[in-house]
Order: sequence, then structure tokens, then C-alpha cells
Amino acid sequence: MTGSTGRPLASRKNPSTGGKGKEDPLQVFFLSSEVSPVAKTGGLADVSRALPLALAAEGVDVRIGTVAFRGVDALPGFSLRKTFAVQTAEGPHTFRLFEGTLGAGGVPVYALDPGGLFDRPGLYGEGGGEYPDNLLRFSLWNYGLLALPEILGFSPRILHANDWQAALSVPLLPHIQREDLTRRPRTVLSVHNMAYQGVYPLSGWRMTGLPSSYNHFDALEFHGQLSLLKGGIQFADFVTTVSPSYRDEVLSEPEGFGLSGALRHRGNRFVGLLNGIDEEEWNPGTDPHLPVKFTMESLEGKERLKSEMRAAWGLSGSGPLFGVVSRMASQKGLGILARVLLSERNRRKNLGEWVVLGSGDPELEALWRDVAARYPGRVHLKTGFDEKLSHRIMGACDFLFVPSVYEPCGLTQMYAMRYGTLPIVNPTGGLRDTIVPDRTGLWLSALTEEGILEGIVRARDLLSRQKKMREMRLLAMGVDSSWKGRAKDYISLYREALALPPWHLPRR
Ligand code: ADP
Ligand code: GLC
Repeated sequence: MTGSTGRPLASRKNPSTGGKGKEDPLQVFFLSSEVSPVAKTGGLADVSRALPLALAAEGVDVRIGTVAFRGVDALPGFSLRKTFAVQTAEGPHTFRLFEGTLGAGGVPVYALDPGGLFDRPGLYGEGGGEYPDNLLRFSLWNYGLLALPEILGFSPRILHANDWQAALSVPLLPHIQREDLTRRPRTVLSVHNMAYQGVYPLSGWRMTGLPSSYNHFDALEFHGQLSLLKGGIQFADFVTTVSPSYRDEVLSEPEGFGLSGALRHRGNRFVGLLNGIDEEEWNPGTDPHLPVKFTMESLEGKERLKSEMRAAWGLSGSGPLFGVVSRMASQKGLGILARVLLSERNRRKNLGEWVVLGSGDPELEALWRDVAARYPGRVHLKTGFDEKLSHRIMGACDFLFVPSVYEPCGLTQMYAMRYGTLPIVNPTGGLRDTIVPDRTGLWLSALTEEGILEGIVRARDLLSRQKKMREMRLLAMGVDSSWKGRAKDYISLYREALALPPWHLPRR
């Protein structure tokens, strides 16, 4: 043990937050580095907004701990609430706390800035590379988060950490709340993607503040390095991931990215809970990003959006309009899709028209620029992050292509369904769990060139069978993917965690 406590340096009187007249609500502290609209690189941000809002609607007193990335103070309703000092593994450290709220119910969001370390253009890095001090940045952030409940007079019974960025809080918690075993929260770690683990050289161990007994194969040690995600997996009371199928997949390699053994060890304390979507934000009848709205009863609006998008981008043909909205990462299968479109053999085939929105890996972006250059008037590419355009693509397209190599859950296929845009997916992970083949979308027969070509041909045929197409669109639009029911699964899990003895006692 380093002697660090993570406690605030000055003791403060706790303002009372509980006892609102009724019985005590379940208090949950939800930790995530990305929360839309504070910061977003992918689906984690959507989930970290929509799930807490759905929990709050069920009566949970949920508060979100996140990062004060650059620009947080410019967000409507966010302001600096206080500055405080915490004893961290690095010694006393000063944090700035920005506070705002989400949703009509006003879910509190606490965005922490450990001394300017997140005031940068990127979240985790720039130009495809990681910031070299990420271990320091996120260790300090975890220390700050764990100090917050006492500073704010909040007594969470559940600490719900998401992904590697917040995973250190799980093993660190008992070393910070040492004296009060009964009041210490139970912990849940949600893993949104096994590929991102927060693995760093052991030379940085000191920054975690954990005793050296945790530098062990059955704790944070991972092939001669330290893994923050593994720390969360080993010590959380429950580990979850974001779909039942992905849960099963990551119990083996290579899908477990080296941690399948650790996950198997968790037995039935590792569960797959399917993500939902915010059906108010993604509603074609009210979406402020859509120039024309539509509903199941008035699908003509969708046709207008399609022809307007075609006209705006000089896409001249008829036939299917395929959309892609994705991070450009090897996980997403966009390399093989680009190669199918670039292949000489396919040049004269009718491959439809494409609108592609993506950003990420510079090589994949370059590959897609080649595709767009090869097919002027048939492929429109926009690189970068564009929330408005993502909604418009969902609104205008006939099909959304999601050829992921693996997909923990995936949200875009659920957004697409809501907009009557049929997803064409590689049935893996959450894509398998959310799309019913030939009813609410299409499953690729294989993630190969042939499989993708066949998918394009099937989509073309389907579009020409108007009755069947309309039937499938309506089925897809009618699917309930909302968080309402799915948030209840988390509440049951929290209650189970509270009823069971802790998974682990802290090591000395
Ligand atoms: P992942 O989290 O693996 O990227 P998800 O499907 O769970 O995949 O979530 C992706 C989220 O990011 C969705 O909200 C999607 O609309 C959004 N998104 C991805 N790429 C872009 C982009 N270039 N511009 C705008 N939104 C994007
Ligand atoms: C990750 C996964 C994605 C999932 C999202 C939200 O980014 O890649 O499949 O939908 O997290 O859980």
C-alpha cells in the first residue's frame, strides 16, 4: 500500500441528499469516460447517457461521474462547482469539478478535471496514437471519482464502472473506503469491448496506488504488464457485457483478447445484458435533424429524405441506397467492404449507391477515399464525426451495412431499424441478438467477398419486392429496443449484488 487514501484533504460537512420523504432510493454512481453530449467517440457515450436516464425513470438515484474533457464548460448548464484536493498515489492533487444535468429529470453529471490533463484535442489520443500519459490521466481521474461521494454527501450503494478507463476504481475502492465495510458500495464493471483494456508497462504501477500484491496473475498482471480492465474483471462483484451472444463469445479466444480465462472464472457473476436505445432521441417522427419527419403510418417522408439526399450529393441512380455510420476501426469490417467495392471483378456489377460516414483509422479512411474516387456519383463519403448526418443517413437510406468482424452490441443497427432502414449485418455478438434474419434485417451468409456481394444482391431483390420490403420496414420500426425494460435488468443485478456477499476482500 502506498499510504495514499484518495480521501479529500479537507474534511467537509456532508449536505444531506437522501431522505426525500419516501423510502430511500437505490443510489448508484455510474462512472464512464464518455457521456453524450459531454464527450463521445462511440456507443459507450450513448449508453452512458440513456441507461442512467432510464434508471432514473425507474426511481434510481443515479449520478454520473465523467471526465471534464476540453470544452465541458461551454456545454449548456455545465459550470465549475468546486475545486478540491485529494491524496492520490502521486501525492496531493487538485481537481476541478464541473457539474451539469442530463434529461428532464436532471440526472447529475460530475465531470472531473485532474489539473488540465484532459484539456487536449483528443479524448485518448490523436492521429491514431494514444497519449503517452494515459495511465496517469486515468489513474488520477479514478482517484478523484472515488473521493466525490464523500465530498458531495452522496452514499452510493452501487459503483457501476464502465470499460478500462473506470476499471481501476473497482480494486481501488476498498483501499480508499477502508474503515467502513458495511457502507462500502458493491461494484459492477460493464465491458463494452474486450479489445480496449488499458494495458501499460509495470513501470507505471506506482500510479495506480494499489499494493504490490495486486501485481499478480490473478489480479492486474497481464503478460508482464498491468491491465486496468483485468483489475476490474477480477474484483468487481459483477461483470457485465453488452449482449448475451458477446458474453458467450468472449469466454473463448481470440474473442476474449487474452482475458477469456479471467471471464470464465467469474462464472455466473459474468452476465450479458443487451443494450437499448434512447427512443426519444432516435425517433423519425420528431427528430430535429431530419428535414422531413416520418412515422410507420407516413413512410412517404422517408422516400423524400432519400431523394433529397441523392440530389444533394449528386447520386444519380435509382435502386438501393446503402448507408454506413461507423468508427473506422478494424472491428467494423469496413476494410473488406471497401475491397469488395474496389475489386476489378466487381467493377461492372450493380452495387447500388452508398453514403458512408466514418472516422478513425487513417488507413481505412484513405481506403474509403479510394472507393469514393472510383465511383463518383455512386459513393458519397464524409470523414469526421457528424451527429446530424448520422441521423439523416438513418432517415434516408434503404439499408444500413454493418459488416462487423465482432460486435459487442452495436447501436447503429437498432437506430436504423427505428428509421425503417433495414440492417444488413454479420450476425455476431449483439448484431445476432438484435436482428431477426429476413424479418427485421438481413444476415450476411459469411464475412467474405462472396458473402458481401450476396448481401448486396439480396438487398437489391428485396427492394424490388415492394410489399415484402414494406412489411420488413414496418416490422423493424415496431421493434421495442428501448432501455425501459432493459434498465430493469440492471436494477435486478444491482439488487443481487447487494444481497450477495462481496466477491472479494481487499488484499493488503
Ligand atoms: P461503437 O461503439 O463500437 O463505435 P456502436 O454502434 O455501439 O459502435 O455506437 C456507435 C455510435 O457512434 C452511434 O451512436 C453512431 O451513430 C455513432 N457514430 C459512429 N461514427 C460516427 C460518425 N462518424 N459521426 C457521427 N456519429 C458516429
Ligand atoms: C462498444 C462496442 C459496441 C457497443 C458499445 C456500447 O463501443 O464496440 O458494440 O454497442 O460499446 O455498449
